[in-house]
Amino acid sequence: MPKEKAIRELEDLPGIGPTTAAKLKAAGIDSLDKVAITAPHELAEISGISVDAAKKAVQAAQESTTLTYETGGQFYDKRKQIGKISTGSKDLDELIGGGIETNGITESYGRFASGKTQLGFQIAVNAQLPREKGGLDGNVLFLDTEGTFRPERIESIAKAAGINPEKALENIMLVRTLTTEQQILSLERADKLIQEKNIKLIIIDSLTSLFRAEFVGRGSLGERQQKLNQHIHRLQTLSDKYSLAAYITNQVMDNPGIMFGDPTVPIGGNIIAHAATTRLYMRKSKEEKRIVRLVDSPNMPEGECIIKITPDGIA
Ligand SMILES: Nc1ncnc2c1ncn2[C@@H]1O[C@H](COP(=O)(O)OP(=O)(O)O)[C@@H](O)[C@H]1O
Ligand SMILES: [Mg+2]
Repeated sequence: MPKEKAIRELEDLPGIGPTTAAKLKAAGIDSLDKVAITAPHELAEISGISVDAAKKAVQAAQESTTLTYETGGQFYDKRKQIGKISTGSKDLDELIGGGIETNGITESYGRFASGKTQLGFQIAVNAQLPREKGGLDGNVLFLDTEGTFRPERIESIAKAAGINPEKALENIMLVRTLTTEQQILSLERADKLIQEKNIKLIIIDSLTSLFRAEFVGRGSLGERQQKLNQHIHRLQTLSDKYSLAAYITNQVMDNPGIMFGDPTVPIGGNIIAHAATTRLYMRKSKEEKRIVRLVDSPNMPEGECIIKITPDGIA
């Protein structure tokens, strides 16, 4: 009997050579598990192999994955280990079930000046606090895609939180990204940094602006969505692998298709909607007040609360 080669990577699958594997990886299908849950016709379309060949590859990928089952109770025990970063507002913390959670992605979307970045600054400081004080005792990776990171704000917020401002800034690894390639690479290459620097929170402010700017008029919405998909999956993977929290901000646009109610919708469509565990819609109210609406959460009811943006941070 011919000895079968163990299937460990994409290239080990029947009918998948290095070129096909590269195409799949570029499309975000970068593991056997992902091949296993891809529809054969989709796999064929992405990679250019025949549907029959794709069926065989998917089947082989499914057979190669080992699923481990756990009881609901075991899973619940694991859930209890999940860390939460306080937002600085008691009401907002309560609304989202205690704070910004690890092992998941929290998204805030809203118009200009709705407070998305300020909330990012606040949790970038709070993540550094000890766990009993609403932090994760960890450091922060901050992808600034819009050039709106302000060390002065970190300084003020840290002082108010009782953290040495210089230390607070030291503990934030900042990447100013100018292109989507840089943005994507910042996460692709983050493993070492995350481990060495004990990163417990990744912020991408904003997730979508460079994608939106670069792919405008290129008539390649498909390509944009594909890249965005790959990027956000990477964020999910990091968040799970290292039990860290991920916070992304998102711009909005007016959806002319909505006739009743608020026409404001976040950019990025279903890709982000599916990937984000918790979605917050932020709106300006009077003066320093902002309305935060919990739009989507796996375990908390929808609701709203009011926060204030103060010189000392979120209150
Ligand atoms: N030092 C500060 N003290 C009080 N409020 C501030 C301070 N800095 C910024 N803000 C408030 O934050 C708002 C901008 O919020 P921001 O989070 O940057 O918006 P965006 O949603 O566009 O990211 C401004 O309208 C301003 O009122
Ligand atoms: Mg902003």
